[in-house]
Amino acid sequence: VVALTPRQGRTEAVNTGTGPKFFLDGITATGASHRSFCRLALFRQHDFMSRRKGSLEETLAGHLERRSARSQLRRLTIVPPHAVDFSSNSYLSLSTNADVQRDFVARLKAHADAASTPAPDRKNAPLLGSGGSRLLDGNSTLAEELEREIAAFHGAEAGLLFNSAFDANVGLFACVPQSGDVVVYDELIHASVHDGMRLSRAGRRVGFAHNSVWQDVKGSASSMTGASCLESVLACLVSGAAGQDFFDGKKNVFIAVEGLYSMDGDLAPLKDIVECVEKCLPAGNGYIVVDEAHSTGIYGDCGRGLVCQLGLEDRVWARVHGFGKAMSCTGGRFLPVRLRVQSLLNGTNSALLLKVLYSPPGRLAIISSTMPAASSTPRQ
Ligand SMILES: Cc1ncc(COP(=O)(O)O)c(C=O)c1O
Repeated sequence: VVALTPRQGRTEAVNTGTGPKFFLDGITATGASHRSFCRLALFRQHDFMSRRKGSLEETLAGHLERRSARSQLRRLTIVPPHAVDFSSNSYLSLSTNADVQRDFVARLKAHADAASTPAPDRKNAPLLGSGGSRLLDGNSTLAEELEREIAAFHGAEAGLLFNSAFDANVGLFACVPQSGDVVVYDELIHASVHDGMRLSRAGRRVGFAHNSVWQDVKGSASSMTGASCLESVLACLVSGAAGQDFFDGKKNVFIAVEGLYSMDGDLAPLKDIVECVEKCLPAGNGYIVVDEAHSTGIYGDCGRGLVCQLGLEDRVWARVHGFGKAMSCTGGRFLPVRLRVQSLLNGTNSALLLKVLYSPPGRLAIISSTMPAASSTPRQ
């Protein structure tokens, strides 16, 4: 095949004196379909372009060299089998816990048996794969039951499953804040919240000094960015004519914090944060969102999280829980206290709901590692 692009291919065919027919005959002679030829042509074109000076490959290679020079080159590693892993997020080692593994295998077998029931009587989702996106045919009773059980476990009205806590944060912040609303966030908040805020319709986003709540507590936390404390940020937001809508509750303020900050290992002063938000936004338009990715499974009764441990379930608007850390699975969900699932489905980023949700084995693994926590027997 001589062509790099269809246009160049035609040029080549003209040069041989046989015209466009030669070009098409040539493709047919290779045995490739026209479609696969197009792919090949695109590949060739890419190959051709990569040799240009200033090409994409050269630009990316320069980027890698600069990162390497700053000792910031990222690499994927595999932990050797007998190494002691001090950096795992699997804080409770549930992924290697024999009881959890046995429970998972039993559930998987039961699900496989049910999934092989002949079609008319089959109620369960197939064993492998989700079939399609959740909005099309990828929904299942297993997913809905899991959502209901987890919401009930956390004392929330509703919850929505996402493939990861990252997706849950992006989905929440990209879609719930509306035009004119503001998101106020701890300056050390996770990158996923930043991604969500970047996609959001919210008019503004303002950082506050890490874990710093009240104005009169000097030096309680040092800001990385020179940001003010939460009280100052909120006081500024509601002040003057521009702040009237926030003070009156006509516009909303979302306050994004984490329960446990994994890099510094410190807890958010959640009680103070709740009191400060209620004091500065008396109309009830301050919506606190706590990312419990690292506190799930560790804090609170049966690992329900820091919000639960402090008894703040009714004063925190939403909690993002993750299955990927202490629960040793993957996935995440967010649990708002006062929002219906219908609003979540219609408000959240369609790109996320158009993704295929993890397949039944993934959901069963979540049940195996989270549900024993609901039993009355304390975990060892
Ligand atoms: C605070 C926080 N939120 C969300 C995430 C994303 O979690 P996941 O890996 O489940 O997507 C992380 C991951 O490290 C995190 O630290």
